[in-house]
Amino acid sequence: MNLVIPKEIRKYIDNQNFQIDLIGKSNAKKMILDDCVLKIESSSDEVKNEVLMLNWWNNYHLPVPEILENIQVEGINYLLMEKLKGDPSYEVIVRRSTEDLIELLADSLKLLWNVDITHCPSSQLLEDKLAAAKERVEKNLVDVNDADEGTFGEDGFNSPETLWDWLDNNRPEEEKLVLSHGNFSLPNLIASGSYLTGFIDLGQSGVSDIYKDVALCYRSLLDNLRGKFGVLRTYTEYEVENYGKLFFQKIGIEPDWDKVKYYILLDELF
Ligand SMILES: Nc1ncnc2c1ncn2[C@@H]1O[C@H](COP(=O)(O)OP(=O)(O)O)[C@@H](O)[C@H]1O
Ligand SMILES: [Mg+2]
Repeated sequence: MNLVIPKEIRKYIDNQNFQIDLIGKSNAKKMILDDCVLKIESSSDEVKNEVLMLNWWNNYHLPVPEILENIQVEGINYLLMEKLKGDPSYEVIVRRSTEDLIELLADSLKLLWNVDITHCPSSQLLEDKLAAAKERVEKNLVDVNDADEGTFGEDGFNSPETLWDWLDNNRPEEEKLVLSHGNFSLPNLIASGSYLTGFIDLGQSGVSDIYKDVALCYRSLLDNLRGKFGVLRTYTEYEVENYGKLFFQKIGIEPDWDKVKYYILLDELF
């Protein structure tokens, strides 16, 4: 990694110990320091949106890290933010219980649904997402190897283009709009004990259909319980399914499986 860090940032971090994060999936490099986190990545619309929404969420007193500094140098964005106390939320399963984690996830979703979106500066409506997905498909940016098993290949879509066409032709009829995190997976919620300390990774946040976050949260919960990421104890498939049901009970929504599937498939293009 190029460790030439601009002086505006260095004044905060010189003399601090740091680790490089290995959990996040994006191309961003994350330095986890003693009391702050530095995210370094090429400037992009998503990075701009992350900064915009961190500030907007903060104004609404939603729990997100405070931005300490954000600068661009030669096309690289340096986002220095407060380090949230706690651990990625899947640790709640180990430290407390699976029920506590599901409660935390449901409360976190509801917290966002209660926000007045009238003046939200970021639109992440289906129309916006499909346009952004098309651009990614055309630029060959979709990583088919990163998709859920079966999405592409023999039993699935034969290319990102065919998946995009399917999504375009099978748009859900209506959107129920809420404030969406946009990448609502367990590592993007930080928890201490069984309490949420905050949300991170807001690059895709904005106004979206309620199922954008519900679907990604549900998938992330089940993937973690099935041991996809190698942590935790293993659950039987029966237990996993029951926890899935409990999740929908806690959020108080009768599952619309077509929408769950749709929003998971849409995410495969990002
Ligand atoms: N402000 C923060 N406070 C605490 N941990 C953080 C913070 N920002 C990032 N991290 C840690 O770094 C990981 C990756 O950061 P994230 O912003 O989610 O990047 P990515 O886009 O790669 O997922 C997170 O899962 C978390 O463990
Ligand atoms: Mg992340």
